[in-house]
Amino acid sequence: MVTVIINGKKYQAEEGRKLLQVALDNGIEIPHLCYHENLSSYGGCRLCLVELAGRKKSSLVTSCTLPVSEGLEVKTDTPQVKKARRLVMEMILPQAPDSLRIRVLARELGVSAVSFPSEGDGCIRCGLCVRACEELVGAGAISFASRGSARTVEPPFAEEPESCIGCGTCVVICPTDCIKMEERDDERKIIRWKRTLKMKSCVRCGRPFLPLAMVDVITRRSTSPPPGERLELCPDCR
Ligand code: FES
Repeated sequence: MVTVIINGKKYQAEEGRKLLQVALDNGIEIPHLCYHENLSSYGGCRLCLVELAGRKKSSLVTSCTLPVSEGLEVKTDTPQVKKARRLVMEMILPQAPDSLRIRVLARELGVSAVSFPSEGDGCIRCGLCVRACEELVGAGAISFASRGSARTVEPPFAEEPESCIGCGTCVVICPTDCIKMEERDDERKIIRWKRTLKMKSCVRCGRPFLPLAMVDVITRRSTSPPPGERLELCPDCR
């Protein structure tokens, strides 16, 4: 364990843990959009900036990528930090002006108007969906494409991704709610990736409840006990 100082107060933390997580563990709020405890850190949204203390010139760093070490001292709410976060949010807001979460966060940071032209596709390029698909699901069905302002998240060649199993993890983890999923008859569609999957039906009530591709992956990855009946019955009939 090491001692870190946040806003003048000492905290014990596991060496190497990311400062953002240490702060959150101790009830210190730092705004963040591209960080998730169970995924690798990306440092893409830059909202989690904090100020390193004890430097001649103050320096701002992303707390989600900053591993803690003995004696590390940061400040999370200085005027410089707040100003930098406002500037960052002024760039994020036009990308997802319809997202309730982004609008609320923007208001909390003191940003109320879109000062750049709206790009409006709802994606803020936080990469949570990309990392979740790769690191949690193991499908790697989507990735970043292009650079700079043209950067997008897409399936390979912008075609229907065969490796997408329709689990919906990307839908759930997206902070702006821009990845939509719909189910109709025995099909599930992940609309943003143009992915359509057939669903397995419950052997008891007949209701489609899980994409067949997901059933296949669960069956292959299951160790003991085998999934058996759990994959034959929908959650309501189990
Ligand atoms: Fe740290 Fe996005 S949460 S850069």
